[in-house]
Amino acid sequence: MIKLGGRRFFSGTTRICSSFHEIQRFTINDIREKFSKSQPISMVTAHDFITGKFCQDANIDINLVGDSLAMVALGYEDTNEITFDEFLFHVKSVSRGNSKSLLIADLPFGSYEISPQQALTSSIRLIKEGRAQGIKLEGGEEIVPTIKSIVKAGIPVMGHVGLTPQRHNSLSGFKLQGNTVESALRIYNDCMALQKAGVFSIVLECIPNKLAEIITSKLSVPTIGIGAGPYCSGQVLVMADLLGMNGPVDAKKSKFVKQYSNFYELAVKGLESYKHEVSNRSYPESDAHGYKIKKDVLQEFRKMIE
Ligand code: KIV
Repeated sequence: MIKLGGRRFFSGTTRICSSFHEIQRFTINDIREKFSKSQPISMVTAHDFITGKFCQDANIDINLVGDSLAMVALGYEDTNEITFDEFLFHVKSVSRGNSKSLLIADLPFGSYEISPQQALTSSIRLIKEGRAQGIKLEGGEEIVPTIKSIVKAGIPVMGHVGLTPQRHNSLSGFKLQGNTVESALRIYNDCMALQKAGVFSIVLECIPNKLAEIITSKLSVPTIGIGAGPYCSGQVLVMADLLGMNGPVDAKKSKFVKQYSNFYELAVKGLESYKHEVSNRSYPESDAHGYKIKKDVLQEFRKMIE
């Protein structure tokens, strides 16, 4: 057996040669190392092969296949509508596009709440069929037995507390959490319980900056914030939001979203230009976009059809 860049390969197979060309994938150890050096961790969601490739080529540390894809890529009303098999299809697609980032997949609503065994079965499918390296699930103290059973099977688990979109019905909407003493205390206790259960990191969604800062300072695993201010160990955004994929620049978006690009407008403009050129016959140009046929072949062909 030989070891290449932290990965093990068994000799006597052709994989040894091809392995030199393989891209080395980020692992939970790399995340721990960044955390120990106080280097901020970047995480972005992707929903298919192309967006996975964007994350790979931008060297994003963690590529999350988040169930937000149900809304931003599939047009569902909320994240609860997507089925496990639909979601798995997207995990497979992202994993084919990204060989570099640590790939974490959400456990979608309905795939883990019934029992730790159901959660473990779903997690194994995400790893085995989806080729994810770990899973994320929403919830606090109540899901500790579930987390323990997944971690025990050797699957890295990322927690998710604060605003947990799968529970938006019991939270009465997508709202800021942790803004009362009781709620802040619950989130704090949830984080401590998740850490004890063995998560390697925790997403803090939509909670006050100061609360996120205090929780981060008390934990020994990294926090990844979304709408949780600048004092988390890392940040995550939904790619469609940060690249401006789903609507014009002035479309309504959450306060915490920063848009770094303008994909939607670029796409619509590009399509309008294409339509215009097709309509006025300026696309395609004969030489620039077309293929030539040899004179004698053409002549012979003409003869044959006359
Ligand atoms: O589903 C998702 O995209 C998420 C992130 C917002 C953390 O869970």
